[in-house]
Amino acid sequence: MSGISIIGTGNMARAIGTLAVAGGNAVEVMGRDQTKADELVKALGGGAMTGPWGAVPAADVVIAALLADGVVPVVAEYGDALAGKVIVDIGNPFNATFDGLAHGDETSIAQEVATVAPAGAAVVKAFNTIFSQVLANGRPDVFMAGDDARAKASVAAFIEGVGLRPLDVGGLQMARWLAGMGLVTVGLAGNGIGHGGFALGVSEFAG
Ligand SMILES: NC(=O)c1ccc[n+]([C@@H]2O[C@H](COP(=O)([O-])OP(=O)(O)OC[C@H]3O[C@@H](n4cnc5c(N)ncnc54)[C@H](OP(=O)(O)O)[C@@H]3O)[C@@H](O)[C@H]2O)c1
Repeated sequence: MSGISIIGTGNMARAIGTLAVAGGNAVEVMGRDQTKADELVKALGGGAMTGPWGAVPAADVVIAALLADGVVPVVAEYGDALAGKVIVDIGNPFNATFDGLAHGDETSIAQEVATVAPAGAAVVKAFNTIFSQVLANGRPDVFMAGDDARAKASVAAFIEGVGLRPLDVGGLQMARWLAGMGLVTVGLAGNGIGHGGFALGVSEFAG
């Protein structure tokens, strides 16, 4: 299938799914709650379909739109069903006070996903610096990180195909710094900007 599979049925699944349908992609939604998956594909329209929880996703690019502490267990649960797939982690593992990450300094959700992912799967971090309502209304830059160039090219093609700009920040070890950028975004929303209707981006300046 050319398009994406989304594991999860929440805010980000809806936002990314909406963009994907608008960009002409086939969209598959897999939810642990089938009723929520059914409701989401109905809302998405555009021929979006549900897939059975835990089965082999129809698309090569699989967005794990799950709460951060659910990403590693769900990828482990899917196991070989994700062999050969590009797994996109969008999670922000914030601590309870939203001023630090919920894991140690030497790792990230994306790197932990890579340790449980099956053979041939590649992990890409992306989308975590953007609020869902911005994806619904704006054209933000999408920062991404990963070790596999072909996997990143697939994710970049999807991002470009929905009208956004992918910005590669480097290898998967950069994923925790992207999580840090997510933290900065939340800090700005609560302080300097004061609302969530913005996204971090890059402006280039000549000379
Ligand atoms: N919302 C944003 O603006 C935003 C922005 C950037 C990044 N993110 C990140 O994107 C991810 C999704 O956020 P969201 O706002 O879409 O969250 P959400 O609306 O709460 O949806 C979370 C989804 O994850 C599922 N889930 C949670 N724990 C699970 C588990 N252990 N096993 C299986 N499914 C599980 C939920 O299923 P049930 O409904 O069945 O519980 C639901 O489908 C999070 O990691 C978040 O940090 C969010």
